[in-house]
Amino acid sequence: ARKTMRPSQRRHRLPLAFLSVLLLTSSAVADSTLTQGTAIGGDQRLASPGGVFQLGLFSVANNTRWFLGIWLTASPAGVVWVANRDRPLNASSSGIVALSGRGDLVLLDAASNNETIWSSSSSSSAAASVAQLRDDGNLVLADAADVAVWQSFDHPTNTFLSGSRAGQDLRTGVVWSVSSWRSADDPSPGDFRYVMDTRGSPELHVWRNGSKRYRTGPWNGLRFSGCPDMTTFEDLVEFRFTHTADEVSFVYRDRVGSPVSRLVLNESGAMQRMVWDGALWRVFWSGPRDQCDIYGACGPFGVCNAVGAVMCGCIKGFIPSSPAEWRMRNASGGCARSTVLQCGGGDGFYTLRGVKLPETHGSSVDAGASLAECGRRCSSNCSCTAYAASDIRGGGTGCIQWFGELMDTRFVDDGQDLFVRLAMSDLHLETTKTSKLVVIIAAVITAFALLLLSLGLVIWRKIRQRSKQVTNFDDMVRGECLTYHLETLRDATDGFCPKNEIGRGGFGIVYKGQMEDGQEVAVKKLSAGNSVQGLKEFKNEVDLIAKLQHRNLVRLLGCCIHCSERILVYEYMSNKSLDTFIFDPRRRADLSWRTRMDIIFGVARGLLYLHQDSRHTMIHRDLKAANVLLDREMVAKISDFGIAKLFSSIGDHQVTERIVGTYMLPVCGCSGYMSPEYAMDGMVSFMQDVYSFGVLLLEIISGRRNQRSFNLIAHAWGLFEENKSLELLDPAVRDGCSPTELEQATTCIQVGLLCVQESPSQRPQMAAIIPMLSQQQAPGRPLRPVVCMPVSSLVDLLGVQEDTSGNAELTITNLEGR
Ligand SMILES: *[C@@H]1O[C@H](CO)[C@@H](O)[C@H](O)[C@H]1NC(C)=O
Ligand SMILES: *[C@@H]1O[C@H](CO)[C@@H](O)[C@H](O)[C@H]1NC(C)=O
Ligand SMILES: *[C@@H]1O[C@H](CO)[C@@H](O)[C@H](O)[C@H]1NC(C)=O
Ligand SMILES: *[C@@H]1O[C@H](CO)[C@@H](O)[C@H](O)[C@H]1NC(C)=O
Ligand SMILES: *[C@@H]1O[C@H](CO)[C@@H](O)[C@H](O)[C@H]1NC(C)=O
Ligand SMILES: *[C@@H]1O[C@H](CO)[C@@H](O)[C@H](O)[C@H]1NC(C)=O
Ligand SMILES: *[C@@H]1O[C@H](CO)[C@@H](O)[C@H](O)[C@H]1NC(C)=O
Repeated sequence: ARKTMRPSQRRHRLPLAFLSVLLLTSSAVADSTLTQGTAIGGDQRLASPGGVFQLGLFSVANNTRWFLGIWLTASPAGVVWVANRDRPLNASSSGIVALSGRGDLVLLDAASNNETIWSSSSSSSAAASVAQLRDDGNLVLADAADVAVWQSFDHPTNTFLSGSRAGQDLRTGVVWSVSSWRSADDPSPGDFRYVMDTRGSPELHVWRNGSKRYRTGPWNGLRFSGCPDMTTFEDLVEFRFTHTADEVSFVYRDRVGSPVSRLVLNESGAMQRMVWDGALWRVFWSGPRDQCDIYGACGPFGVCNAVGAVMCGCIKGFIPSSPAEWRMRNASGGCARSTVLQCGGGDGFYTLRGVKLPETHGSSVDAGASLAECGRRCSSNCSCTAYAASDIRGGGTGCIQWFGELMDTRFVDDGQDLFVRLAMSDLHLETTKTSKLVVIIAAVITAFALLLLSLGLVIWRKIRQRSKQVTNFDDMVRGECLTYHLETLRDATDGFCPKNEIGRGGFGIVYKGQMEDGQEVAVKKLSAGNSVQGLKEFKNEVDLIAKLQHRNLVRLLGCCIHCSERILVYEYMSNKSLDTFIFDPRRRADLSWRTRMDIIFGVARGLLYLHQDSRHTMIHRDLKAANVLLDREMVAKISDFGIAKLFSSIGDHQVTERIVGTYMLPVCGCSGYMSPEYAMDGMVSFMQDVYSFGVLLLEIISGRRNQRSFNLIAHAWGLFEENKSLELLDPAVRDGCSPTELEQATTCIQVGLLCVQESPSQRPQMAAIIPMLSQQQAPGRPLRPVVCMPVSSLVDLLGVQEDTSGNAELTITNLEGR
């Protein structure tokens, strides 16, 4: 169908002799201007001075309908503006474009008594004396004083060009918006409209027949809140957002020397930013990008996660309003508060991080207020449900307050913080279904344990009665752990002097110390006041950790308990932690492939020991590059194992902090070391450690962190799928590798990908990993990891029939890598 959209080249018949207006010379491409008394018709065109754009008649549907339009000279099929969208001409030969006596640009139909098919009908009192097509694609009517009285940029059809505005003139109420073509061969306005919503914080919305389909989110000072990728082509175009008393508008401009670009609302309702590369229009960005961009995908108070195993979740403190629908993956009903707000002092705010802000329609915006002031205002107004900064620059300024439902919130890269009002009880307690489940499981386990215990007691009594031997339970757990005096440790660290501080983590501060006998130690002062564990339990746990001794575990030498102070003493590792090497641009070169491989094996062996070889099997829970320490010989030693258990209260609290974000939702599944099942419902198993090991493996190989802004797993998978795994290898070591070592690296990457499989059952056990790494056993082929799940077809979502007719003219390459 698009093929026929070319301007006429066939028809040269011009039965226009009866016209008093003087037609321009018969050559097809003419001047860039029309003045009173001149006209073009048939296949004649206006060309912009530099020849970039042309204006003329083009046809669709086998030359049966003709329209006046503007297109890029190099791409006649990519029509950027249409005059007579609703009223086509039957033949090009009958069309006449001229300046009327009143100074309007008109399209006349010579076949029906010069009827005016279309007129620019400018509202200006001044009459235009000249119409000019400019090199930016703007058709401008100017009066005698060369003041523009009408321009096509103010009446866009389905396309914005560099310099044309989307928005609204707040004085006159004039709206600059676009509407899609009805179909590829019908430029009349279709079902979709793209308009600026100026209620609340201005944002751009795509509507379909009066219902909202997609929103960009409000402007946050740098970009639209829901369009993180906008900034990725800032080298090509420049964005300007204007919000004054006179107008709200969004304009982009092609940078000097950059190719022509356009922003099109296409027939399927998608916004496409296209750049002309000299041969075709490349799509640089398009929205909606995924299911989560579809307006209200998860209903009020829902949060959408496009990379999660489950797409929709509820904001913390909310539960699905219709659980039955929700289970059937129909989240449109959204979520409801689980505890009614108290108002007054009974509420607090929960920080939902990294989101596209909810719809601001009906919110109040004050760009002048600080974020702190915003919090005070929201907290003192009982109807305020949430607040956020209106401008993310400078750490966040300005104030948006929401007063009702929070609609259309989703996680995005570089998203913003949204502060959601919750009842105090929801803020601190876990009242989600997950925790209820945990309670039930715990109850079952406790009951079972009690049963076993009583059974054991009976047996034990019998044995005791028989042998009369008394076993002292305390003797069994009293271990090799040394107890230090606080004074000794104080002396060793110069009174816990800050200059001796070598690390700081969730559990406390670590100091370097030197004992009287010259032995170097690491002294970990646990954060005071957090432990709820009794003295005896603490001691038992420390003894247990001290018993775990392995070449690849950092050795716990002893502890010190003094009043509320709890201190652990470890062997000192002179080369600090692994992350100070692999993520450091200079030091990473010090780690040859050989060394990296030794470290990988070391961590694997240490972990295997924790998992099954020691008498007390243990899940590390927090394996990461910062927890792998290196001794003088660069031998890797895992640290911080068992410590989460020491501090059950802190440990759980931290876990909660990290995972609570939403209900049923892996917030961190895409970055860091947390496995999807752990992020989702706090499920702890050996497989959580295997997952973390997989991430660590990929990080050691690539020298890059797995984080929100760079998804290492997705990147590794992409390369693996294209058989280019070795491109993942840190360039700092790649060149020095022998063919055997390269082969080893390939295997390692495959093992890494196996370890980060979505389902824990698909991940190998630590015991199986070591033979794979040493190439004694071939690793299986990994499946696509969870973070790379494809989003289903947008066209399906929008419910639009895809145009299957031959799209010969317009082959679009989607450059948007996701
Ligand atoms: C255009 O014309 C060709 C042949 O003349 C015909 O096969 C085709 O169906 C026509 N297409 C439309 C959209 O009318
Ligand atoms: C085009 O042709 C159709 C049918 O032949 C007719 O109804 C219509 O009025 C014509 N339009 C114009 C603008 O001449
Ligand atoms: C068309 O308009 C011209 C003046 O612009 C006039 O001379 C001519 O007679 C008109 N033709 C018809 C059929 O009305
Ligand atoms: C939108 O409206 C048009 C005409 O009013 C109708 O033909 C079309 O089916 C509607 N589409 C949807 C999705 O409601
Ligand atoms: C509209 O744009 C989307 C996104 O780029 C694309 O998938 C779709 O095929 C386009 N539809 C048409 C009719 O060109
Ligand atoms: C989804 O649930 C809502 C109520 O929450 C209901 O009105 C709607 O019909 C459901 N949609 C589907 C497709 O089941
Ligand atoms: C709370 O905010 C709403 C909406 O801005 C406003 O109408 C109302 O007066 C405010 N209430 C108080 C107590 O400030």
